[in-house]
Amino acid sequence: MAKMWAGRTDGQVDKHADDFNSSIHFDSRMFRQDIQGSMAHATMLAAKGIIEKEDTDKILQGLEEILRDLESGTLPIDFAAEDIHMFIEAELTKRIGDAGKKLHTARSRNDQVAVDIRLYLRDEAQGVTEMLQALLKAILSQAEQHKETIMPGYTHLQRAQPITFAHHLLAYAMMFTRDMGRIQDAVKRMNYSPLGCCALAGTTYNTDRMMTASALGFDGICLNSIDGVSDRDFCVELLSAFATLMMHLSRFSEEVILWSSWEFKFIELDDSYTTGSSIMPQKKNPDIAELVRGKTGRVYGDLMGMLTVLKGIPLAYNKDMQEDKESIFDAIDTVKQCLTVFPPMIATMKAIPENMLRAAQKGFINATDLADYLAKKGIPFRAAYKTVGQIVAYCIANNTVLEELPLSVYQSFEPQFEEDIYDAIDLKNCVETRISAGGTNQASAEEQIKYIKQFI
Ligand code: ARG
Repeated sequence: MAKMWAGRTDGQVDKHADDFNSSIHFDSRMFRQDIQGSMAHATMLAAKGIIEKEDTDKILQGLEEILRDLESGTLPIDFAAEDIHMFIEAELTKRIGDAGKKLHTARSRNDQVAVDIRLYLRDEAQGVTEMLQALLKAILSQAEQHKETIMPGYTHLQRAQPITFAHHLLAYAMMFTRDMGRIQDAVKRMNYSPLGCCALAGTTYNTDRMMTASALGFDGICLNSIDGVSDRDFCVELLSAFATLMMHLSRFSEEVILWSSWEFKFIELDDSYTTGSSIMPQKKNPDIAELVRGKTGRVYGDLMGMLTVLKGIPLAYNKDMQEDKESIFDAIDTVKQCLTVFPPMIATMKAIPENMLRAAQKGFINATDLADYLAKKGIPFRAAYKTVGQIVAYCIANNTVLEELPLSVYQSFEPQFEEDIYDAIDLKNCVETRISAGGTNQASAEEQIKYIKQFI
């Protein structure tokens, strides 16, 4: 069949070239936004006297019916069509005749697709934001239960200082608040209408771009028509926010995987978020967390793909830009899949405080507190640090721990040690006396929880 644009050529395209050129397999998901944009455009065309009011009425009614039929599935997508824009316009003309052919006045597919993607991403970004709120709630539900649960804090994956489980989890909550901010920020810059930029240079018709922009909920219009049709920065920005979000989910997943190993056993994942092995009967594998970690690579790939597509194309529209959709759609789908399973996995995991405490009791994680004890008695911190290093070496050589070392031994290293040393290195005290703002103490956890709740 000849193409809608037949004229300059006979519109006959090689079958394989035609398939290669078509984007309807992936852009049909924007049908709602395409219709939304067309309705705003048709309304404006009549308001400005560019087409007859009756034609616009027919167009609006036809589009509404197409929308209804697409939603209900009674109108199947024709995958032989070039893209969703062509499909809907052809279907409209099929239904309402010549009036349908007037819809594309003072418009091009270049501004049409640009407006569709912006509308689509704006909707999806809102969905992802809501999913992130659910994730924050899941983290809060755990943090609230574990404000006093002591675990080792790590640097270099070596036990470093005692912290609470709540404090550790809330660190992730902070990351996800920033992710929400990045997404909102990307939407802010995305929310300008390219509709009416037409092919690249604008149009000779006296259109009202502000009218369509406000009808579609945009904050304004793209001020340069060339930029309007060739800009995909908002895809890059959103992808970059998604890549960062996935990086956070991946780090969290890595810890969940470590914590649920026999080596740590800090948590037990709910059975519904684990799988078994086909050969090893004892296994309970954290596949969900591993897949989230694995899928992070896809989203990074989507971002790199998008940047690479854009880097060499001259202004304005080039067909390369059709490749924007698969990257951004894949990233959205992946992020949404991950955010569907990750929050309930976190909400249902069971912490095992005894194991966390046991781990915290090994590894001299209160050595800094011991040094601080001496420093508070007037010994310069560096000197105190050295003495404590010697005491730790003594403990290791004598197979003991700081809590069990007799006072006389302490005093043999430094006469200023007194009976209160045992309080100073008690893990609970170590955590509670980290009173600096944002430290691991309970009051700070409460403050952080309050902040996250307000944020949600
Ligand atoms: N399917 C195309 C895309 O996604 C729509 C725009 C086509 N414009 C054009 N001049 N060929 O980019």
